Amino acid sequence: METLDELRAEASTCTRCPLYEPATRTVFGEGPSTAWLMLVGEQPGDQEDRAGRPFVGPAGKVLDTALERAGIGRDEVYVTNAVKHFRFERDGKRRIHKAPAVTHIRACRPWLDAELRAVRPDVLATLGATAAKALLGSTFKVSEQRGSVLEFENRPLVPTVHPSSILRGPPEAREEATAALVADLLVIADLHN
Ligand code: URA
Repeated sequence: METLDELRAEASTCTRCPLYEPATRTVFGEGPSTAWLMLVGEQPGDQEDRAGRPFVGPAGKVLDTALERAGIGRDEVYVTNAVKHFRFERDGKRRIHKAPAVTHIRACRPWLDAELRAVRPDVLATLGATAAKALLGSTFKVSEQRGSVLEFENRPLVPTVHPSSILRGPPEAREEATAALVADLLVIADLHN
């Protein structure tokens, strides 16, 4: 079985789908191979594409705050995405996030499967619809099942919202939405304790 370092090196030259061309680089998952929890997001954003690390931009800040409030250290967690290249549309100088297509998610799936084999987390959590649908099927609805303990390949999987959905909502709803994300993360933490 390949190590995370070997996988990261291989993925850095991935051309399995066309997203590698406009993107700056592959943003592979990050965290210890001993992590008990794997968090799966959608795809890197603008800042992640520049930095080469997942969840370091605005959504990452929301995630870090929520993890801290739930008593989960980011260093205990392996954080990755269903798609490992940034998909965007240009608007002048700005690069606007564009959701990945099913073909991108499918093409990228072998990397996620390899990460799962290398890390073997006790618990899996999906952030948002893209990751949930990738692992649980295209009809899955996060709004109906967030925070519930499901199963994926013989391990518990808890779906929750994507932290960027909190940023997209109205500012006055942010605290409540963050508290709901923390509540889902506490369900996850309980599975470990
Ligand atoms: N959104 C994601 O889904 N993943 C990241 O790494 C950053 C933003």
